[in-house]
Amino acid sequence: MDPIRLDVDTPSRRYTLTLGHGLLDRLAPLLDEADVPARRFVVSNALVWRLHGSRLASAGLDRPILLADGERHKQMPGVSRVHDALIRANAERSSALITFGGGVIGDMAGFAAATYLRGIALVHVPTTLLAQVDSAIGGKVGVNHPLGKNLIGAFHQPHAVFIDTSVLATLPRREFRAGLYEVIKYGMTSSPGLFDRVAHDLAAVFARDPQVLTALITESCRIKATVVAADEREAGLRRILNFGHTAGHALEAVTKYRRFRHGEAVAYGMLVAAELSVLRGALADLDRKALADLIASLGPLPSIADVSASQMIDAMQHDKKMVGGRLHFVLPTAIGATTIVDDVADSEIRTALDKVGFRK
Ligand SMILES: NC(=O)c1ccc[n+]([C@@H]2O[C@H](COP(=O)([O-])OP(=O)(O)OC[C@H]3O[C@@H](n4cnc5c(N)ncnc54)[C@H](O)[C@@H]3O)[C@@H](O)[C@H]2O)c1
Ligand SMILES: [Zn+2]
Repeated sequence: MDPIRLDVDTPSRRYTLTLGHGLLDRLAPLLDEADVPARRFVVSNALVWRLHGSRLASAGLDRPILLADGERHKQMPGVSRVHDALIRANAERSSALITFGGGVIGDMAGFAAATYLRGIALVHVPTTLLAQVDSAIGGKVGVNHPLGKNLIGAFHQPHAVFIDTSVLATLPRREFRAGLYEVIKYGMTSSPGLFDRVAHDLAAVFARDPQVLTALITESCRIKATVVAADEREAGLRRILNFGHTAGHALEAVTKYRRFRHGEAVAYGMLVAAELSVLRGALADLDRKALADLIASLGPLPSIADVSASQMIDAMQHDKKMVGGRLHFVLPTAIGATTIVDDVADSEIRTALDKVGFRK
């Protein structure tokens, strides 16, 4: 099957996403075709490299810079490690950095690429479902600060993105599900067709059927690419992709980033936003139920029974999505449509949290 190509046309750069099953085995010619500078450095982690690195090594990319695995390592020391390696190798302004891993590697190495010599070419080769549908597209790169998530970063659009669905075969089921919640998010914000497709093809999705996965990933990437092209710096439209993230980020923070994968917290966040929307008469309860049923059909989520509404509200108020002191919520108005509001009262949030199962 020929690879699928999608253009991302942002004000700062125009680039192409190339999707296909088995792309990694032809990565060297694909990089050449995309005019990626010839001096190439790869950043990955030991796990991803052990599973899939040989396919890059055969493309001449045989000396990866390896970073520690895990969200807790997405911090400045990882970025410095990449800088150190680039400096020691005398990497020039005309070099390229290829990230090969999930969102943690993409964000951290992407930030190193954005800052080394004030920015070198960046190529993402995402290996988790979440990175393939979300973090590899749109140019946000950065790291966490001990006091908060993603506080240090930049916008640095990649030169190209190569998405090979075959690497998903080794992704643990929990990570795979975590990415699927973001796919459901795209369906809820922008595409009833995508929403229905996840529901309808769930067995094939979980079997990681290449054709079904390619269709889901392509549609998700198309939505993200369109939104990012219209609003690169998240001044307006791009904020719809924060659907589920106001309560989702709060839940991650309250549970100290330990209990939930990001996508799982977003799943709860989407349920909270849908309840809020129903309470306000902006969403039909039938649509809320369709979302809740689809989320439930993916399997059980970690418990929230011990997380209180007050903890959640406090954490939301510390979130970056506060604008001018007001909390913003992306509320669904139907499957595939949203509105953004900034006038939600604490009492409404409490009712919605209660309905989703948070402690009073
Ligand atoms: N830049 C953005 O726009 C953006 C958007 C969404 C999320 N993010 C960031 O992405 C990060 C989460 O990314 P993630 O969910 O990919 O997590 P991750 O990068 O931690 O990857 C999850 C786990 O899967 C492993 N893994 C990766 N590929 C694998 C494969 N093919 N087979 C087996 N194991 C594999 C990783 O080593 C890791 O242990 C967060 O830090 C989040 O802030 C960024
Ligand atoms: Zn997210």
